Amino acid sequence: MSTILEIKNLNLGFNLSDGFRQAVWDVSFSLERGETLAIVGESGCGKTVSTMSILQLLPETAKIQSGEICFDGENLLNLSQKQMQKIRGKRIALIPQDPMTSLNPLYTIGNQLLEVIELHQGLKGKEAFDVALNALEKVKIPDAKEKMSAYPHEFSGGMKQRVIIAMALACHAEVIIADEPTTALDVTVQAQIMEILREIKKQENLSVILITHDLGIVAQNADKVAVMYAGRIVEYAPVKELFKNPKHPYTKALLNVILDINTEKVETIDGQPPSIENNISGCPFHPRCAQCMEICVKKNPPKRTIDGSVVCCHLYD
Ligand SMILES: Nc1ncnc2c1ncn2[C@@H]1O[C@H](COP(=O)(O)OP(=O)(O)OP(=O)(O)O)[C@@H](O)[C@H]1O
Ligand SMILES: [Mg+2]
Repeated sequence: MSTILEIKNLNLGFNLSDGFRQAVWDVSFSLERGETLAIVGESGCGKTVSTMSILQLLPETAKIQSGEICFDGENLLNLSQKQMQKIRGKRIALIPQDPMTSLNPLYTIGNQLLEVIELHQGLKGKEAFDVALNALEKVKIPDAKEKMSAYPHEFSGGMKQRVIIAMALACHAEVIIADEPTTALDVTVQAQIMEILREIKKQENLSVILITHDLGIVAQNADKVAVMYAGRIVEYAPVKELFKNPKHPYTKALLNVILDINTEKVETIDGQPPSIENNISGCPFHPRCAQCMEICVKKNPPKRTIDGSVVCCHLYD
C-alpha cells in the first residue's frame, strides 16, 4: 500500500474577539490508497476543521499554526490558491452533509456535471456528456440521460448526494472527504448511499475520509479510525482493534452510547466536551473520565503506541 495523504502534527485555531483559541492540537493521521479512515467524536471535537484544512476551505478567522498536509508527496500548505484549485474538487473531492452547499439550484444537474468535467478534464461536447452520463449511471441514478436536464430541486436528498458522488467520479478524484454524508437522510437512503460509496471506492481504488457519528457505519466501512476529543486524536486504531479492544476511556464511552431497547434509555456520556474558549489543564477528557487519576488533572498524556493503536491516556504510562 502507498500513502496518498498524510497530516503531520497539525495545530490550528481561530482568532476570536477575545484572542486566539486553539481548536486542533497536534493532529496526525495518514490515508493509504484504497483505504477508508473514519473520524469520530462528539460535536465540536474538530472533525470538520481538521479535514477542511486539507482542502484549505477554512473560515477567514482560522489560522494554521503549524503542521504539514502531504498529498501525493507534496505539502499542500506550500501551494498557491491557484495550485490548490487544481486539486480541490478534482483530485480531492468533498461530499458535504448538505449536498445543496455544492449544487447550484439555478443550473441543471447535467450543466453542473459538464462544467466540472470541462474545467478539470478539458473535455467538451459529446465526450464530456458521455463522461457525465457514465458517472450518473455508476451512482445508479435511474434514467440518467433524462435526469441530465433536471434541476437539483427535482431530486430527493439521496439523489442529490448521488450527483455529488458522480461529480467526484467524473473528475477521477483520488481522495473523497465525506463529512457526515448521510446524516440528513433517512435510514434506507443512508444505507444505499453508503453502499454506492463502498462500491465506487472499490472500483476506482479511492481513498476515503469518512466523518460520521454512526459507529455502525464505521464498523461497516472503515479500515481504521481516529477518535477525536477536544481537538485531539485520543485514539487511532485499525477498525477491528478499536471495536474489539478499545483503549481510551472516551472510545469505550462512545462505544457504550447505545439505546437499551428494554428501558428505552440511552446510555450517554455524562457532561459536555470542553469548548475552545475554556482552557483546560491536564487531559481534556479528565472531568468526564470514570478512570481519572491525579496525574490526569495535571498533565496532558503523550501519544503512545500499543498493539498497533495510538492512544493518549495516562492509564498506559
Ligand atoms: N468559524 C469558527 N470560528 C470559531 N470557532 C470555530 C469555527 N468553526 C469551528 N470552530 C470551533 O472549532 C471546534 C471544532 O469544530 P468542528 O466544526 O471541526 O467540529 P466537528 O467535530 O466537525 O463537530 P460536528 O460534529 O458538530 O460537525 C469547535 O470548538 C468549534 O466551536
Ligand atoms: Mg463537523
